[in-house]
Order: sequence, then structure tokens, then C-alpha cells
Amino acid sequence: MKDTIFQLPTKLYFGRDNLKYLAREIKKYSNRILLTYGMNSIKKIGLYDEVVNILKENDIYFVELGGIKPNPEVSTIRKGVELINKHNLTFILAVGGGSVLDNSKHMAISQAANKDIWYLAEHYQEINKVSGLIKIGSIMTISATGSEMNNGGVLTNPETNDKVGIGHREAYPVFSFLNPDFLITLPQHQRVAGVCDTFSHLLEWYFSSHQDEGFADRYIEALMINVLKYAKTYINNNEDYEANSQIMISATFALNGISAIGKKAGDWNTHALEHQLSALTDFTHGTGLALIHPQVLNTYLNKDIDENKSLVKFINIGKNVFHLDIKDDTELAIKTCLKIKETFDYWLDNKNKLSDYQVVFNYDNCVNKLVDDGYLTGEYQDLTKNDISKIYEEIA
Ligand code: NZQ
Ligand code: ZN
Repeated sequence: MKDTIFQLPTKLYFGRDNLKYLAREIKKYSNRILLTYGMNSIKKIGLYDEVVNILKENDIYFVELGGIKPNPEVSTIRKGVELINKHNLTFILAVGGGSVLDNSKHMAISQAANKDIWYLAEHYQEINKVSGLIKIGSIMTISATGSEMNNGGVLTNPETNDKVGIGHREAYPVFSFLNPDFLITLPQHQRVAGVCDTFSHLLEWYFSSHQDEGFADRYIEALMINVLKYAKTYINNNEDYEANSQIMISATFALNGISAIGKKAGDWNTHALEHQLSALTDFTHGTGLALIHPQVLNTYLNKDIDENKSLVKFINIGKNVFHLDIKDDTELAIKTCLKIKETFDYWLDNKNKLSDYQVVFNYDNCVNKLVDDGYLTGEYQDLTKNDISKIYEEIA
């Protein structure tokens, strides 16, 4: 187990009726805030009115920035920084999904650095030197990314067709409100995407080396079992409070750092491949992962078998998560890989090709970009140019 420093600075309010604590939490940090949200859903579900009333009743001055898109873009980050500076705002309240929260984190980073966010994306080493970010709090209306309890975010630049992740040690939300009832209005395809995103995060952390990694691996297996137990009910029954709760908390804890304890970095090749896909096609992140992840694992497994490497990760998921009883290790690993694919396919209702979504992905340039940018290196295995083309071909 590697040396680890672990701290989670986010205070979590989980469950119904917690918004009564919202004003108290905000006022610990500021009474001049930027309120960020997405296109329309928080207005439809009545959450916008509820939040605005709380702010007004508690004399918290706020300026609004709505219209943050899924796969959020640099333009709304720039607008946010402008508003923060113009109105001397000292806190961001993000209400919505991962896109709203990620954009808000990037506003805080760009504002503190006094540099354009895309300049920072291209000069990554400068980000660590930045400090004094204004604080961020969130109210989540979708379960997927785990952004509510981590310090990362993803942004898209439509001018360059790039989608990149930027994190900062001060970008953890100071609080996050998770009310499973806010998920009731989520459309089914977003529920599917959220479950797939969560499972993919667990897999990315799991496949971090060719050894069993004790604590973190057992933790991840437990979350996988829980997601498998509740996913189908969550996808089909919007109003099932228990399923909404279990998936919501699992999504948060899949990517809040606990899965990483004692590990090096996780294997983020599937996410790298998906970010190219959504940068170019605006495809939904979690759905893209569900198509790509089984192909990546299949590529890894074939190489492991060819190179006579340890299959312990596949074997442990097979035994501990899918409860497979197969004596031969190679056979067990192959069956596990198949079970993972069947699981994603089941959630996707077998729509496991881009053509099922009428999406055409011209991936030639992306393959070159991934290789040129050096994104091919995964913690578990590297992917060659040829591997990537094949994976993209498989999901077309
Ligand atoms: O824009 P609005 O009107 O809010 O509608 C949203 C949006 O269309 C809708 N929605 C949200 N809550 C709803 C609702 N519709 C009905 N009822 C509700 N209660 O759902 C749509 C998707 O929202 P979005 O915020 O884009 O989804 P998600 O949370 O999945 O975020 C995806 C983004 O996060 C990035 C992804 O790449 C993508 O850009 N990621 C961020 C990560 C992180 N910060 O750690 C890690 C992830 O791996 C991921 O890359
Ligand atoms: Zn993800």
C-alpha cells in the first residue's frame, strides 16, 4: 500500500428537508454569491424558487448565471468570472448536475488565477501555484460524476474540440446537499448514464495495478455490489426513494478519493477515450463510458493472457462481485469481462453502439490527439494507436 494523505473537506447533507440549513452554511463564508445553474430543470422542479426564497429571506445578495450546458464550455466559465469580479462576489452556489458544478469550480480557479481558463488548461503547471479560490457549495439534482465531493471538473472548448479535466486542491465544495427526491424528474437516459458513470469510476480506480490492493479494492467491490443491486430499480422507478438514495450516495462515494486510498493513480484510459467522443459529438458522458469500457477491458484481458500477466483484478471481481464459481483462472477472468459487458448492456437496454443513438463519430483525428497528447498511458495498461482505433470501431 502506497503512502497516502487523505482529507475530505466537503460537508454532506444527505436526505430530505435539509435545505433549511442552506443559508446557515452559505453565511459561514459569504453573503454575496454567484448562483449558477443549467438550462431549465431546476426551474421545472421548483428548486430554483425554493433556493431564491431562502437567499432573499436571509439577505444573501446573489447574481445569477443560468444556461450552463451539459458537457460545459469555456464561454460560461468566462461569463462567471466576469460576474464575480464585477459584483465582488465571494462564493458560488452551484445548483444542478456535474456540468454546473464543474463549470463553477473552473470559475473559482480562473478568477483566483486572474487568467483565462483555457490558458490555464494549456499551462497546467500554473494551476498548482494558484491559491485563495472563492468557496463553492452545491445542491445536486443528478447523480453521476461525484463532483459534489471531489476537487475536479471537466470542460469543453468547442473552438479546439477539446475536453479536458482541471482540478485544484481548494476546489472541493465546502458543502453539498443531496436530496434523493430531486432525482425524481430525471429522464431515464440520464439515470442510465449516471449508473454507468458511477460503475465506470469504480472500474477505473480498481484497475490500478496487476495486484490485489486490499482496502481500496474491497471498498470498490462493496460499492459495485450496491450499484448492481439498486441500478435497475433506479433506472425504471423514478420515485423509489431507497433506490434513488442508494445510487446517489454510491455515485458520490465512488469518486471522492476513498477508492484511491493506497493506490497510485487509477487507470483513466476509458475516460480519456470518452472525453474525445463527447468533445466532438456532445454525446452523454456516462453512456459513452458504457460503450467504451467493456472494449477497453477486453483489450487489457487479451494482452494480460498473451503476456502471462496476473489476472487477479478480473478474478476478484468475478468471485467477489459477480459470485462466479469457476475453477480455472483464465476462464473465470474471461467470464468476468463478459459479465461486465453484459451488465452495461443490460442498463443500456442493449443500445451499445453509437449508431443506436444516431451518432456518427469521426475518430481519426482523436486517435492522433490521444497519442500525441500522451494520454495513452494507463495505470493498468497502455493502449496503442491501433488499440484505440479498434475500440472506437467496435462501438460505431
Ligand atoms: O441543464 P439542465 O436543465 O439542468 O438539465 C440537465 C442536463 O440536461 C439534466 N438534469 C439535471 N438534473 C435534473 C435534470 N433533468 C431533470 N431533472 C433533474 N433533477 O440532466 C442533464 C445532464 O446534466 P449534467 O450536469 O451534464 O450531467 P452530469 O452530472 O452527468 O455531468 C456530466 C459532466 O461531468 C463531467 C462529464 O465529462 C460531463 O461534462 N464529469 C465530471 C467529473 C468530475 N467533476 O469529477 C468526473 C466525470 O467522470 C465526468 O467526466
Ligand atoms: Zn465519469
